[in-house]
Amino acid sequence: MINIRSEREIALIKEAGHINFLAHEYIEQFLKPGITTKEIDEKINDFVTKHGGICSCYQYEGFPGYSCISINDEVVHGIPGKRKIKNGDIVKLDFTVRKNGYESDMTKTYIIGTVPKEIENLVINTKKALYEGLKVIKAGNKIGDIGYAISSYAHKCGLSVVTELVGHGIGSDMHEEPEVPNFGEKNTGKTLKSGMVLAIEPMLNLGSKEVYMLDNNWTIKTDDESYSAHFEHTIVVRENGCEILTGE
Ligand code: MF3
Ligand code: CO
Ligand code: CO
Repeated sequence: MINIRSEREIALIKEAGHINFLAHEYIEQFLKPGITTKEIDEKINDFVTKHGGICSCYQYEGFPGYSCISINDEVVHGIPGKRKIKNGDIVKLDFTVRKNGYESDMTKTYIIGTVPKEIENLVINTKKALYEGLKVIKAGNKIGDIGYAISSYAHKCGLSVVTELVGHGIGSDMHEEPEVPNFGEKNTGKTLKSGMVLAIEPMLNLGSKEVYMLDNNWTIKTDDESYSAHFEHTIVVRENGCEILTGE
């Protein structure tokens, strides 16, 4: 069942989403070479908690961090720990904020210091791919339209699309129906309706699309060790477009 959220519920998701957005803004100043992913994770949790939210990734199906911190060829679900970030890394911070019983989900990829042009373009174009996906969201369009928009933009940029992981409905639970693949065909799949709340999250690779899971049973990496970027927003479907709930 795909939930249709009331304006009251949407406002609550937006409240959680705003804390998520602010936490991303706040953490940026600390993303300097030498900081460990555990330190980043704790700062995110402190900020979210101070603002009345809960980092609901913590202990979600046993996940041991407050946030997912994935570096370079790690695609998603990196576990915070002793690793220090360094110049030339790209760091993906993906976390959910729960408040008043409602969830938001947001990811950004951060560039540490300077990276080769090719990697900078990967990051820029993954963000653009997310917005290409958001552009086609409105009541009456289909789930497949989103994946088509994202994947055709990615391929135009010479990037591959991770297909093992998908976007999702979100609301009272972090993961709800429907699945929102980052690939697809126009005019296929379920019809978008006003009030559906979705997390849209392209994961794009510089090399091949193939990925595997580490022994820790969480972290996903690219097979060929190529870098991967990820951006995510929580949005609500409207009659004439979509509204970002993880924003200002
Ligand atoms: N935030 C992730 C997503 O985009 C889910 C993380 S689940 C966790 O769907 F357990 F790893 F935190
Ligand atoms: Co997420
Ligand atoms: Co998500």
